[in-house]
Amino acid sequence: MSNGSCRICGGTVKETVNLGRQPSGNGFPLPRDIEHEKSFPLSAGTCDSCTMFQLLDDVPQEAKYRDEYPYHASGSAVHRAHFERNARRFLETELTGPDSFIVEIGSNDGVMLATIAQAGVRHLGVEPCREVADVARGRGIRVLGEFFDENTAAAIRAEHGPADMVFGANCIAHIVFLRRLLKGIDTLLTPDGVFVFEEPYLGSVIAQNAFDMIYDEHVFIFSVRSIKAMAELAGFELVNAEPVSLHGGTMRYTIARPSRRTPAPAVAEFLAREREQRLAEHGTIERFAGAVRKIREDLTGLLGDLHAQGKRVVGYGAPAKVTTVTNYCGIGTELIPFVVDSTPSKQGRLVAGSHIPVLEPGAFAADHPDYAVLFAWNHAEEIMAKEQAFRERGGRWILYVPDVHIL
Ligand code: TYD
Ligand code: ZN
Repeated sequence: MSNGSCRICGGTVKETVNLGRQPSGNGFPLPRDIEHEKSFPLSAGTCDSCTMFQLLDDVPQEAKYRDEYPYHASGSAVHRAHFERNARRFLETELTGPDSFIVEIGSNDGVMLATIAQAGVRHLGVEPCREVADVARGRGIRVLGEFFDENTAAAIRAEHGPADMVFGANCIAHIVFLRRLLKGIDTLLTPDGVFVFEEPYLGSVIAQNAFDMIYDEHVFIFSVRSIKAMAELAGFELVNAEPVSLHGGTMRYTIARPSRRTPAPAVAEFLAREREQRLAEHGTIERFAGAVRKIREDLTGLLGDLHAQGKRVVGYGAPAKVTTVTNYCGIGTELIPFVVDSTPSKQGRLVAGSHIPVLEPGAFAADHPDYAVLFAWNHAEEIMAKEQAFRERGGRWILYVPDVHIL
């Protein structure tokens, strides 16, 4: 176990969870490319000073975000509805002026900005991954194909003027140089502007033993306390924290310039709750790491037993999480011959490291498996509703969070 230096405050990050060497979570290589596959150490811990939970090692940016980055935010009906609701709320609250302007960092396939564009409100998506950015452009959304930092922010301000609001979802915690991002926010926002972002919540990850939320892209997993510290270090104030039931537990944070907005009571309430849960303490993360080792033992034990009994087990969903789980547990095609996923750009590819093929969802029903490991467990309701026939035929779901169990 080694320690690292905090990317937010320079404090000491104590390594508490070690998931071994892992390839990039969204790598999904083509079969012909696996000999070039790279792997990196994957371990994480909490900063002694600002309490930010973060990875110890950096994976080079080019290993993570390619032009054909396969994650499409519009892939789930629940997510589409959520981001449309978000957009409508922003239109009613922050974007009411005659010439309002919103910037979205990591706008992906335009799942949120589509509603803003339809309303005719000035907007700009910032999205370096070309394929998803082109999908958004096809929907009539303006997209700048770059990484967001203080230089990009200055260029946007020079061209479009200051932004009333900057938004980011499931991408802010990916940014290694978060301090430079915050400088960019400072450059870009109007005096009364807000930066709103929603990201997987550390409290939910710990409560659900969701170790598969740890992969190279998730450089940080935020808590209300660590975001409050980060905001203050960057000259901002945390003014709201709202739980969102996506990705197994997400928190939406609102940051403003100091003393511009009255902080919502939720901020103090979550801070108190996190103190009660001892969320910032190393001991809490150590207990989590113990539970994760137990999940590995139980899951490999169960899959080994089912294999010995001649049962057919396949996987459902190819989120980045499947990379963490299969590589950490040493699960390959002998135990799980394939996984299915609805994202066309993942189909025909392999899970990085474990090299389990990703097939289209039709392969699931055609295969008549006895069991399916639900890797996209954060979409359980949507997937189980869609795949009722599997259950009716006697098929059973295997879940591994918060512990290994069969449904
Ligand atoms: P998600 O958990 O959203 O992303 P990540 O962990 O990579 O951040 O990914 C869910 C995956 O599940 C995504 O690749 C699409 C897939 N999926 C299906 O195959 N069928 C479905 O019905 C749903 C909702 C998702
Ligand atoms: Zn720190």
